[in-house]
Amino acid sequence: MKIETYEKAYLALGGVTLTAALLVLLYTSVGMDLHLPTRVAEVDPATVRTTPPFDQPGLRQTGPGQYEAVMLGQAWAFLPQEIRVPVGAEVTFVATSPDVIHGLLVAGTRVNLMLIPGQVSRQTYTFRRPGEYAIICHEYCGLGHQGMVGRVIVE
Ligand code: CUA
Repeated sequence: MKIETYEKAYLALGGVTLTAALLVLLYTSVGMDLHLPTRVAEVDPATVRTTPPFDQPGLRQTGPGQYEAVMLGQAWAFLPQEIRVPVGAEVTFVATSPDVIHGLLVAGTRVNLMLIPGQVSRQTYTFRRPGEYAIICHEYCGLGHQGMVGRVIVE
């Protein structure tokens, strides 16, 4: 079978692009340890409000410069609504939803979680710049969706 020169060139280009993309994927996942936030545990949405740690949503210090933010995203607010941390704080968000699917996005960072009833999501982020970061629900969750906001204050 004879393959045209241009066709060969385009096939080669496709091969090179694919190989480059795979190498980047491998580098970011293995080399930089970047992963999509995934479900880390399960919890009964009916009793989540009385199940630790979600019975007391809020910020806790877990070590020097390290914090854990236990959060509930519910129709239509985040609990807690505000988190205050010092500059350089490494914050692990642990969150879920007691009712419907919500999102938890901290604007200007790569914190982006799905809050799915029954599943606990977790993601860690280091806040290196001072300022106010909006927490936004990015999944349509009903009438009050657009008002479902919170904030992280880094001082
Ligand atoms: Cu909660 Cu949209």
